[in-house]
Amino acid sequence: MSVISFDAATRTWLLRTPRTSYAVRLAPDGTPRHLHWGPPLTLAQAAGLELEEPLELNDSRGLLAGEELPVDGRIRFSVPSLQVRFADATRSIEWAYADHRIDGEELAIRLIDRHYPLEGTLHYRVYPDSDVIERWLTLRHTGDGEPFTILRADSAQWTLPVLDDYRISHVTGHWCGESQLHRVAATHGETVFTSRRGVSSHHANPWVMVDAGQATDTAGEVWSVALAWSGSWRITVSRAQVNRLAITGGFGHDAITWRLRPGQQLTTPAFAGLYTMDGFDSARQAWHAHIAGHVLPRPDELRPVLYNSWEATGFDVNEENQIRLARIAAELGAELFVMDDGWFGARKDDRAGLGDWTPNPDRFPRGLGPLIAEVRRLGMSFGLWVEPEMVNPDSNLYRAHPDWVLHYPNRERTTIRNQLVLNFARPDVQAWAHGWLDQLLRDHDIDFLKWDMNRPFTEAGWPGEDDPDRLWIDHVRGVYSIMDRLRADHPGLRIESCCGGGGRVDLGILRRTDETWPSDNTDAVDRISIQYGYSQIYPARTMAAWVTDSPNFLNGRLVPLRFRFHVAMSGVLGIGGNLTEWSPAELAEAAQLVAQYKRIRPVVQHGTQYWLRSPSVVTPGDGWPGGTAPGGLTAVQYLSPDSAETVVFAWRPTAHFGHPPPPVRLRGLDPAATYRDEDSGREYPGVALAARGVRPTLPPGDYASAILHFRRVSG
Ligand code: DGJ
Repeated sequence: MSVISFDAATRTWLLRTPRTSYAVRLAPDGTPRHLHWGPPLTLAQAAGLELEEPLELNDSRGLLAGEELPVDGRIRFSVPSLQVRFADATRSIEWAYADHRIDGEELAIRLIDRHYPLEGTLHYRVYPDSDVIERWLTLRHTGDGEPFTILRADSAQWTLPVLDDYRISHVTGHWCGESQLHRVAATHGETVFTSRRGVSSHHANPWVMVDAGQATDTAGEVWSVALAWSGSWRITVSRAQVNRLAITGGFGHDAITWRLRPGQQLTTPAFAGLYTMDGFDSARQAWHAHIAGHVLPRPDELRPVLYNSWEATGFDVNEENQIRLARIAAELGAELFVMDDGWFGARKDDRAGLGDWTPNPDRFPRGLGPLIAEVRRLGMSFGLWVEPEMVNPDSNLYRAHPDWVLHYPNRERTTIRNQLVLNFARPDVQAWAHGWLDQLLRDHDIDFLKWDMNRPFTEAGWPGEDDPDRLWIDHVRGVYSIMDRLRADHPGLRIESCCGGGGRVDLGILRRTDETWPSDNTDAVDRISIQYGYSQIYPARTMAAWVTDSPNFLNGRLVPLRFRFHVAMSGVLGIGGNLTEWSPAELAEAAQLVAQYKRIRPVVQHGTQYWLRSPSVVTPGDGWPGGTAPGGLTAVQYLSPDSAETVVFAWRPTAHFGHPPPPVRLRGLDPAATYRDEDSGREYPGVALAARGVRPTLPPGDYASAILHFRRVSG
C-alpha cells in the first residue's frame, strides 16, 4: 500500500504515515483544501469525507475554508500564506490546478495563476517510519517579463479539526533564559510567534503545539508544527469566531520582500507537522525520533564528553593555560577538549579581533599545533570556537572590507557586543569565510567547531544590491552552504550550533550540526526548565549541558557538584568549570560521575524520553518561568531503544517540610518483566515500578538529586 494515494473521482489525496493520515481535496474553485489530519483513514474513507464549507457570512474565508495555502485575493480576510505583487501592482492570486506528481514519498500539487506567469507547487513529504509530514512551497516565474515582488511566502498552512477549545504550547525566553514552556488558551484572532533577529532566536523558537486544552503528558491529541529554518521567521496561529484554527508559517518576518525574476524559482524551508494522540510525551518522542532518523547528519554517534574553556579562562586563553586545563579534563574522562573564544587576532576581550582568524602570536607563539598535539596525546579530540558571521570594527578584516557588513548608507552601524554582522548573502563574503575555515581544518587536526553567532541583525541593508531584503534569506543559506561544504570536505568534522546560548536551535541548523548549546545559563536549577522546554521538540543527543563552577557566574547560586552533574548528565555531558580550582575531592567525584555518565550515556542519548514529573509550565496568571514540579521533585526518564535499561534523573532543588520525595512512576516498561536496580541490586516487577513507582533516595536538604538505573532481568 503506497504512502501517498489519489482518488481521481473526488480529487482527493491521502498521505499515510505509520499512525496518522492527512488528506487534501481539490475544491471546485481549483484550490487544494484541507480535509483531514488525524487518525488513519483509507483512501475510500477520505474520498467519502466532505469539505468544511466556508460560511457564507464569514469574514475570514481562507481560514474557514481550510485552504492548504491561502493567498491574497478574492473573498479572503485571514492571514495570507502567500502574497505576491505583480509588476502592474495586482496583488491577488487566482490559482488554477495544473497537475500533481506522486513520487514515492513525495507529493507535488502544481498550481498556475490564471493570468500571470506564476507557478506555485505545494510539496508534501512523508516517511515510512515517522508521523512527521514535511510541507514546503516552490514558486516559479515562468514568464520573461517583469519580476514579481514576493511579500510573503509561507511554507504551508496547517488546519486543525473543529474543536470546542484550543490551547497553544510554545516557548519564550531571552539570553540566559531560553526555552521556557508556556501553555496558553488560543485567543480568537491571530497569535503571532516570530523572530525579526536574523536567527531563530532566544526569544521564541519556530514551533508550536496545539491541543484541545486537556492533553496531559500521557493522554490527548496534540498537533504540532516546527519550521526548519535558522533565520527570521513567522508562525501565525489564527482562531476564527466559529472555532476553526489554522497555523501558517514560514521564513522571513513581516515586511521583508524579495524579487522573483523570470526563470527564477524560490523554495521555502520545510514546515513540518505532526499529529499524535497520546499526549505530550508521545509528541515529544515522535519529534525526537524524527530528528534522529531524518534530520541529524550523524544521529547514531554517541556524543563525546567535552571540556570547554569559556567559563574557566574567558578570553584569556594561551597554550600554557589550555594545556593545564586539558590535562585535568583528560584525567576526569573528557573525550573532547574545546578551546573557546580568544585564540585569534587581537582578541583579548570582545572589543577587537573578530574577523582575523589567525592564532594570536603572543598567546600561541608556536601556532595551535602544539596544543592540539598535546590534547591528542592526552587521548582527546580537539575542538575550536569560531564566530564566522561576525566582525569587530577594530579588526584588519573590517578595515579592509567595511562594505562587507550589513549596513545602510546613511545610518549608523549599530554594534552589539562591539561587533557587526558580515553579510553572508554576498558571494565574496561566503568565499572568504569558507576559505579560511577550510584552510584552518586542512592545517590542523580539528574535529569539532563550536560555531557561535552573538548578535542579531540590525540595519540590515546591502547598498548596491537591487533586491537587498533577500539577505535575510540568503545569509542563512550562506551559513548552511558553508557548513555543508565543510562537512562534505572534512567528513570527520562535527559542529556545535551556538548563538550566544540557544539563539539558533531549529530543524534547519540541526540538519548540519551535531549538537547545540541551549543556553549560556549553566546554573543547574535554571537549566532544568531550559532543558524541559528544549526537549519539547529537540532530542537529548543534541542538548549540550556543562557542569560549571559554583557559585554560578550568573546568579551566584551555590549548588553541590553532584546536583550540577546530575542535571548535565541528562543531556550531552560537558564540563566547563575552572578545573585548576577544583579540590582533589571534587575532581575525584567528578571523575566518578563522568564514568557513570559513560555507562548510562547510550540510554540518555539514544533512549526514549519521558518527563515523569515536569517542571511547572508558564500559564496565564503565573507569568514567571522556571518553577518546579509538584512536591518539588522533577524527574525525567530515558528508556533504551531495546527497552532493556532505563535511567531516571530526579532533582529536588528545594526541600519542603521534611517530606520524603514522592515516588516516580516509570513509563514504557514491560509490566510482566522484572527490573533490577543497578545500584542496590533490588529487583522490582515492572508493573510495580509503573503503578506504585519508586521513591528516589535523596540526600537531605536542598539541591538533592539521584540517578536511578534499572536493567531488565527477566520476563
Ligand atoms: C557566547 C557563547 O554562548 C559562550 O559559550 C562563549 O562561546 C562566548 N560566546 C564566547 O565569546
